Amino acid sequence: MGKATQDLRKEHKAILHVLHILDKMMQTDGSKAETLLHYYNEMVYFLKIFVDKCHHGKEENYLFKELVIKGIQNEGGPVGVMLQEHVQGRDYIEQMSQSLDNKDLSGFNNTAMQYRDLLRRHIDKENNVLFMMADNLIDEQAQSLLFEQFEQHEESVIGDGVHEKLHAMIDTWAEAFDAE
Ligand SMILES: [Fe+2]
Ligand SMILES: [Fe+2]
Repeated sequence: MGKATQDLRKEHKAILHVLHILDKMMQTDGSKAETLLHYYNEMVYFLKIFVDKCHHGKEENYLFKELVIKGIQNEGGPVGVMLQEHVQGRDYIEQMSQSLDNKDLSGFNNTAMQYRDLLRRHIDKENNVLFMMADNLIDEQAQSLLFEQFEQHEESVIGDGVHEKLHAMIDTWAEAFDAE
């Protein structure tokens, strides 16, 4: 396994852990609306910054571009499908955010479930299909170069302070929703 795909797989693990927490949040008794709104707002922040900007940014700006150079099809092919799913996910996050602005918890839950299902299927396809292709097509040296670009990307969209903040948020959620 190359360094770049390994980094993305590690992030998938973190994202799946957060989706598990999201499930727990959605199973919570709806009478605690104010508390839930607080956590859901944090969740949307995480999905925007970490999942979309950081993780999907690494895939779109670097890995997928490299795969297309190596001959993997974009439109009508595996890369195109992954890109479309990123767009769909972004739309869901936007809808979730709007539901929160309207304090509409059931609207939020509806979209969040669709988002969760989409993202789980998406991660499964990347782990088991696309990243396998990447490991076959991109040699160790090129993977290391991609990984360096990932680190720069991460630094520019997240940076040290926010990284700590995201970790602390996940720990707080895991404890509050008993999702270790
Ligand atoms: Fe992706
Ligand atoms: Fe991914």
